[in-house]
Amino acid sequence: MPREQLGVCAEGNLHSVYLMFNANDGIESQLRPCLANVAQYIHELSDQYADSALNGFIAVGANYWDSLYSASRPAELKPFPARSADNRDAPALEYDLFAHIRCDRLDILHLVANEVCQMFEGLVELVDEERGFRFMDNRDLTGFVDGTENPKGRNRQQVALVGDEDIVFKSGSYVHVQKFAHNLSKWHRLPQKKQEDIIGRTKHDNIEYASADKPLTSHIKRVNLKDAQGNSMEILRQSMPYGSVKEQGLMFISNCRNSENFEQMLHSMVHGDEEGNHDHLLHFTQALTGSSFFAPSLDFMEKAAN
Ligand code: HEM
Repeated sequence: MPREQLGVCAEGNLHSVYLMFNANDGIESQLRPCLANVAQYIHELSDQYADSALNGFIAVGANYWDSLYSASRPAELKPFPARSADNRDAPALEYDLFAHIRCDRLDILHLVANEVCQMFEGLVELVDEERGFRFMDNRDLTGFVDGTENPKGRNRQQVALVGDEDIVFKSGSYVHVQKFAHNLSKWHRLPQKKQEDIIGRTKHDNIEYASADKPLTSHIKRVNLKDAQGNSMEILRQSMPYGSVKEQGLMFISNCRNSENFEQMLHSMVHGDEEGNHDHLLHFTQALTGSSFFAPSLDFMEKAAN
């Protein structure tokens, strides 16, 4: 069984750092071993700093994959599925590499983020950086608990990691990232019941609405999808609030064994159902980025390094 990068399925943390890089030209033969080393380094540190639950993963951008690993490509790796309707935008903004590092201690997180950047020196440019944090009892900045219906226990691996269907990429994961900036002053002007109708759950005690009470425009209704066989389409969300007083929101991160589930959910949020019932959460938040990556197994990166 190829070894997964531990950050893909790890449980939530208190702090995170998101580093987006673009690669310099013509450095692929140096970057391949460097990536394997960085991923292995994070893997080893997760033992050393187990007390503070350090974890992370490195992912390669959909548009950069073929330059780096020309021999084979994950079957469903595609550019970000940008969507737009009226004033609801889910734009694409791709990067070559994504380093996602999380920890319960901010000082260790900072140390490791610096080390990772040093290991990449001369090969890549850091083009975006954000810091994520746990807000209250796992709430999004809208005040609603986020992550409740995420897969639990071993089901996290089942949902997030490629299996035997694409053997070369087994234990890897499709990653979609969207930086959402919230309009919190607009949100806070809404009465609580209206906010709850938009999410489809109660705010303080986080109780799911009964099926018949969920508005077709609620977030839960729009993303709770079934495939043609009637099975739930699931993703593992590793999102966290990010930002400063000036700009803040949710760094939305989906990990999944396919790219289809995320794509369908995003389509349902922006375009809605046949009657055009779209996700009203999008009236209060705006996606600034949309990037598609694949986080390969440690073994894939090691083998491809030479
Ligand atoms: C559920 C917030 C974007 C997929 C939820 C919940 C909240 C929430 C509060 C309910 C609690 C839970 O089960 O976690 C947000 C916010 C977003 C956002 C604030 C952006 C600003 C997205 C996007 C997708 C998505 C872009 C996928 C394309 C899901 C899924 C669930 C969920 C699959 C679980 C639904 C269920 O099974 O009940 N989200 N979300 N979310 N969200 Fe989001």
